[in-house]
Amino acid sequence: MNLPVQGKGTPNGWTRLPRVKHLTAPPGQRTTVIRASGMYVPPQVVTNEMMSRIMDTSDEWIIPRTGIRERRFVERDIGSAALGARAAEAALADAGLSAPDIDFVIFATMTPDLYFPGNGGLLARDLGMKTTHALDIRMQCAGFLSGLQTADAFIRSGMYDRILLVGAEVHSGLMPWPEGVWDVMLGKSPGPCDPEWYRKATGMRDRAVLFGDGAGALVLEANESGDGRGFLSFAMYTDGTHWDKLHVPGVGCRFRPYVTHEMVENLDSVPIVEGRQVFRLAAQLMPAAVQEVLAANGKTLDDLDLLLMHQANLRINEAAQKVLGLPDAKVFNNIEKYGNTTAATLPMAFHEARLAGRAKPGDLVAFTALGAGLHWGAGLAVI
Ligand code: ACO
Repeated sequence: MNLPVQGKGTPNGWTRLPRVKHLTAPPGQRTTVIRASGMYVPPQVVTNEMMSRIMDTSDEWIIPRTGIRERRFVERDIGSAALGARAAEAALADAGLSAPDIDFVIFATMTPDLYFPGNGGLLARDLGMKTTHALDIRMQCAGFLSGLQTADAFIRSGMYDRILLVGAEVHSGLMPWPEGVWDVMLGKSPGPCDPEWYRKATGMRDRAVLFGDGAGALVLEANESGDGRGFLSFAMYTDGTHWDKLHVPGVGCRFRPYVTHEMVENLDSVPIVEGRQVFRLAAQLMPAAVQEVLAANGKTLDDLDLLLMHQANLRINEAAQKVLGLPDAKVFNNIEKYGNTTAATLPMAFHEARLAGRAKPGDLVAFTALGAGLHWGAGLAVI
């Protein structure tokens, strides 16, 4: 099929080039099904009002522009590997399985516990897996979707029968505030916030209010029953020329040393987001990818039961829904409660949609995401 890339071919500056090969799953062949799901969010709720204790922001600004009412933040010293392990345990319990039943682990995160090793090995340690191989994916908001594609390829090839796919993030580590400022925000200290930190936090308010901590996991496994359930195909893209739309300017092995006092002082460890451009690209490219996977499988938007989109901003998802002309009954969002949990949004949304009876066995479900890289795409499954 075709994909949109930057060029001169269309009025909006995007043209189409053939690059994606749709390895659609013919009826009766081995497919990959979602056997179970689970999620975990830390108990600490942080409302918009709590954020306004340490920066110049408000419900009135945040809700109309993003749809976010609250998010969760972990306690100090808890990392995304631990959150992922809790979500994985929930998914395993949902499946009625235990860790030794898993052949392979895929862990997607952009906020790993350590520079290295990655979270996959840490999760294997936490779950007591001694022989299971674990793959780390670092593809930000598109990480879980790429994990789904990878898991599907491994299962369909016969390499593995059962894969645990985890997406987990602890964005609070990207917030550079000292403990005293966290205490004011959480109401553990009466405040007021240190004026210098109030100024600095206000300088990053466009990003700080968007993110939250959380984890989701799926157990994926081979289906040889020929019942038509399983992932049908994926359309996945990367356009590295947009690397700077979402990036962390400091801290990396391009620098010697890879982290310096100056980087921390200058807040170069804080992500930069060109919000309006990302908004525009996401609202265009996610719907295009969804339409592509539907068409590749001879399906239309009428056939679709549910669309699950990455949860970066409710307004992006509303714009994408409008492009596709889908009714509310075919879309599920939960960003209101959790903010953007990056690699965790899709499994968390799937899990909650499932619990709400919005994703039922036999439903045709599309997954789509766009994130730093830029990476984006869509996957289609009969769940
Ligand atoms: N509270 C109050 N005022 C704010 C806040 C805030 N939290 N954030 C920004 N403002 C102010 C700005 O300072 C600016 O004020 P000024 O006009 O006086 O300078 C004004 O509001 C408008 O700011 P913009 O950044 O232009 O706001 P915009 O309407 O574009 O919305 C937003 C910003 C919500 C971030 C939007 O652009 C967006 O959702 N973008 C996409 C989200 C995104 O990129 N997510 C990251 C994906 S994560 C990943 O892939 C890793």
